[in-house]
Amino acid sequence: MSFLELFKRPCLIGAHRGSRALYPENTLCALEKSIGHCDFIEIDVQLSSDKILVVMHDDTLERTTNIKELDAYKSREPYKVSDFSYEELSTLDYGSWFYSDEIKPEPLLTLKIALEFIKENHLFINIEIKDIHNSFEDKEVISLVLQEIAESKIKDHVLISSFRHQYLLLSKEIQPDIPTAVLVEKKHPKNLINYLKSLRVDAYHCSDKLADEITVGNLKSTGFYVNIYTVNDPIRRQQLFDMGVNGVFSDYLE
Ligand code: G3P
Repeated sequence: MSFLELFKRPCLIGAHRGSRALYPENTLCALEKSIGHCDFIEIDVQLSSDKILVVMHDDTLERTTNIKELDAYKSREPYKVSDFSYEELSTLDYGSWFYSDEIKPEPLLTLKIALEFIKENHLFINIEIKDIHNSFEDKEVISLVLQEIAESKIKDHVLISSFRHQYLLLSKEIQPDIPTAVLVEKKHPKNLINYLKSLRVDAYHCSDKLADEITVGNLKSTGFYVNIYTVNDPIRRQQLFDMGVNGVFSDYLE
C-alpha cells in the first residue's frame, strides 16, 4: 500500500513528532513507541551546517537538547541548528530535557536513520521540511531530502509537507511520484483550490482553527486529501472526521 492508498482509509491518526506528549519529540524512542498506535508518523527535518538532514522541530537547540548545560558550546548562542555540524549535534542529549526527574539520554536522529526505521517496520512517514531558506537554497534542500528518500527505497511510504510551499513544487518537478502537502497555520491562501493545483500537491494540512465544513468539502470534492493538526481532543476529532477530514495529527498515542 502506498501513502496515497493509505489516505483512502478513514479516520487516520498521525503521531505528531512521534507522539510528543508522551516521549521526547523527534527521537527514535518516540518513533518506536508509536508502532501499532498510529497510521503514520510525522517528523520535522532540517540541515546541519555540513548539510546532514537531522530530525528536529525548532530552529534552535535550546528547548529539546542539553546544550545550555555544556560549557563547550557557551559561546554559540542562539544555538541555531544550522550553525552546528553533524558531529557537534551528535554530542547532544535529545531525551533528558523531557523528563522532570530522570536523565534518559536519546541520540540525535537523522532522516537516514528515521527512514531505515520506517522501512524495517513497514510504516508510513510524513516528513515536514522546516523553512530553512535563510541558510540554504531551496533546490539544494529539496534535492538532499529526495536523495535520502531515494536511497532508502521507500518512496511509496513517504509524504512531504512544508510551510515553505516552494519546496513542494520543486519536489513535484524533480520526483512527481512522492505525495506532497501544503502546510498552513494562520489563514487559508487566496483562491485555495487553484493555489494547491498550481503547486501540484496532493494534500492540505491546516491547523484546527482553520478547519470548517465548507473548506473541507471543497477540498475533498476537488480531490485533495485533508489532514488537521494538532487535535488531541477525541470529540473534536470525531467532528472533523464527520466533516470528511482524512486524518488528524495527535500528540498522544491511540
Ligand atoms: O505537520 C503538522 C504540524 O506538525 C505542523 O506544525 O509546528 O508542529 O511543525 P508544527
